[in-house]
Amino acid sequence: MHYSISDLRQRPDFFDTVADRIWSAWWQRHGVARGYIVGRLQENLGAAAIPFALVAHRDDVFMGMASVIASDLDERPQYTPWVAAVWVEPQFRTQRLGGALVDAATEAAFRLGEPCLYLCAAAPRRAFYERLGWQPIEEQVGELRLTVFRKDRPVAEE
Ligand SMILES: CC(C)(COP(=O)(O)OP(=O)(O)OC[C@H]1O[C@@H](n2cnc3c(N)ncnc32)[C@H](O)[C@@H]1OP(=O)(O)O)[C@@H](O)C(=O)NCCC(=O)NCCS
Repeated sequence: MHYSISDLRQRPDFFDTVADRIWSAWWQRHGVARGYIVGRLQENLGAAAIPFALVAHRDDVFMGMASVIASDLDERPQYTPWVAAVWVEPQFRTQRLGGALVDAATEAAFRLGEPCLYLCAAAPRRAFYERLGWQPIEEQVGELRLTVFRKDRPVAEE
């Protein structure tokens, strides 16, 4: 499947779509205002290297996204940074794009010098992340009973 992965800073035309997906997939049901998500997403366009958001696209067609953010789980403030907001548009799923986005976000953070990354997911996603080389380090964390995963920077990149 042909696609490109770009930093949202280089493709701000996808900003509204990314905000919509984050809001409708994870926040709308909790009563969070879309405007709050827009504000948080704008942090991905700032001068700091982290947070950043990657978008997968074929020319101007949005296909998916993944982010690296400082904090994703209120219960684990000691862990940072996190791969988060992993999303593939339904019509492009099961063709390895989700895995490619997680890997691209992870590798970009390692290139920035991060020695390890964290990620949290519900039980049905466990096999998906384990296949990508993520190690579960804690189970049933927080109200959503999430698994926390960790991935270390390969030794050769240190
Ligand atoms: C989770 C998500 C990002 C995965 O995206 P994707 O592009 O389908 O991911 P991949 O194709 O890399 O892998 C997905 C699955 O399809 C399988 N797969 C990939 N290519 C395949 C192929 N050619 N034939 C059969 N299966 C295939 C993978 O083994 C994987 O299986 P698993 O879920 O049992 O681990 C996507 O389903 C999504 O956006 N879901 C909604 C949001 C979400 O849940 N995000 C994660 C929050 S933690």
